[in-house]
Amino acid sequence: MCGIVGYIGNNDSKEILLKGLEKLEYRGYDSAGIAVKNENGIHVFKAKGRIADLRGIVNENVMAEIGIGHTRWATHGVPSMVNSHPHQSESGRFTLVHNGVIENYDLLKREYLADVRFESETDTEVIVQLVDKFAHEGFETLEAFRNTLKLLHGSYALALLDAEDNETIYVAKNKSPLLVGLGDGFNVVASDAMAMLQVTNQYVELMDKEIVIVAKDEVTIQNLAGETINRTPYTAELDASDIEKGTYPHYMLKEIDEQPAVLRKIIQAYQNDQGQLKIEEEIISAVKAADRIYIIAAGTSYHAGLVGKQFIENLAKVPVEVHISSEFGYNMPLLSERPLFIFISQSGETADSRAVLVQVKEMGYPALTITNVPGSTLSREADYTLLLHAGPEIAVASTKAYTAQLAVLGILAEVTAKSRGLEVSFDLIHELGLAANAMEVLCDSKEIIEVMAREFLSVTRNCFFIGRGIDFYVGLEGALKLKEISYIQAEGFAGGELKHGTIALIEEGTPVIALATQESVNLSIRGNVKEVVARGANPCIISMNGLNMDEDSFVIPEVHELLTPLISVIPLQLLAYYAALHRDCDVDKPRNLAKSVTVE
Ligand code: AGP
Repeated sequence: MCGIVGYIGNNDSKEILLKGLEKLEYRGYDSAGIAVKNENGIHVFKAKGRIADLRGIVNENVMAEIGIGHTRWATHGVPSMVNSHPHQSESGRFTLVHNGVIENYDLLKREYLADVRFESETDTEVIVQLVDKFAHEGFETLEAFRNTLKLLHGSYALALLDAEDNETIYVAKNKSPLLVGLGDGFNVVASDAMAMLQVTNQYVELMDKEIVIVAKDEVTIQNLAGETINRTPYTAELDASDIEKGTYPHYMLKEIDEQPAVLRKIIQAYQNDQGQLKIEEEIISAVKAADRIYIIAAGTSYHAGLVGKQFIENLAKVPVEVHISSEFGYNMPLLSERPLFIFISQSGETADSRAVLVQVKEMGYPALTITNVPGSTLSREADYTLLLHAGPEIAVASTKAYTAQLAVLGILAEVTAKSRGLEVSFDLIHELGLAANAMEVLCDSKEIIEVMAREFLSVTRNCFFIGRGIDFYVGLEGALKLKEISYIQAEGFAGGELKHGTIALIEEGTPVIALATQESVNLSIRGNVKEVVARGANPCIISMNGLNMDEDSFVIPEVHELLTPLISVIPLQLLAYYAALHRDCDVDKPRNLAKSVTVE
């Protein structure tokens, strides 16, 4: 979370920084700021709220060819002007932006900076004050920066300006994402290539504990020992239109609509010349060598993992456990003899998942990352990667990445099954193709779902999602979508579990959204609906064609029973979208959240 940018070149930096921050706003939007430097010194502009608020207070008349910027997701200290970045050292010489968390900031404050007056409550300010302290002791800026980094425990992506140096942005990274972008007569810094696509598509990846000296004509990467590191730049394969909303009112709606195309792209990407599904041999060997798979993920990706377990156990017959990443590291279960870890993460940057990856790599176990972002931290640090091919997902609420995760997990399960000589009783390519068609039908049903959102969700405080088996897992995802963007308290439950406590919460009119896409539990989930209706609930049954009954509110097209989650989630995504819209919520940037959760 938090996004950082930097620019050094021959043009005025303000607009480049502001545009970059707008592209990074998905990473946090509590407050924002930029610092630009010219012959008159460093000028800092900060605003609580969105980048649009920051734009409103930036002085147009200040021209500066070097600058850094930040959009914040608060960790230490409330969102406020004083806690927003950039932060400056007491003397005013150094100015810094930071993404990450410095775990030992309090200790450093007491040990090294007892006589320094701090302005903010942030952990970040310790860094900039330490650099100043070392500079004051006689160290050159680079050395002062290096000395500081050696004291930090935690995660950081940093960009630093020195008021006495017009030629350099000092940059460093550990655990938090950061890239340097290369231009002709200028260079840039960004948390994500998307931010600076406006000026370059050439980027250099940075590794943990590296320092970069960014000048307008030169970029020098060093390790903490001061040794120079050579790294070949890469071209960011992103199309600027991928990150625009186009005619859509919200990214979330655009991304919901992109799902059929993404699914078709995945079918293509994972197919060989003979028209069969393929996955690199070494990945399949790793899956086959495992006696148990541990899926580690958070949020929506965790929900995809729960469905993925069904795919892998059903088709490939390998036992699977699914764990929430923030729990796993502290409460590790007894592991099997030959585990394989699968990390599912849209962003590939989720700190909770990364912490587990570091642990299991230290233990010597193989790891596969399923991610949407090539070159992301989880992708780089795992042994193997499978890509989602979903294109940038900008809305905080994950939609197309979820269905892409399901598709890739299904393909992994099928290819493993076949490679183990197991029979797969259906043609997955064909069934995924039908699922893509069904997705299209659902994306064309927006008007009906908007009416349903009004009917069931316009005045309620809470809402329950129920299902059995695979429908239960989709219900968990439906509830997460609804609560995160509409702020309606929503929970997913196994249909049979309600009567063991939760049914006490059902009141007159409480909406209960029930999924009925599985033949084996169709009657029992409908029995659970009757139980809540008898207690006053307002039921909304979403069933699959062939299993539908008169009382159902919405019927999804028929697809293979195992693949229903790819389809049944779409009306739930749209219900959440319209419920949020009807309540005037900020659909793409819900309160308190950020797209990429890079703090533990
Ligand atoms: C879902 O809508 C979320 N915004 C969130 O739960 C997300 O899925 C979670 O933070 C994990 O992110 P990742 O997939 O990038 O690891």
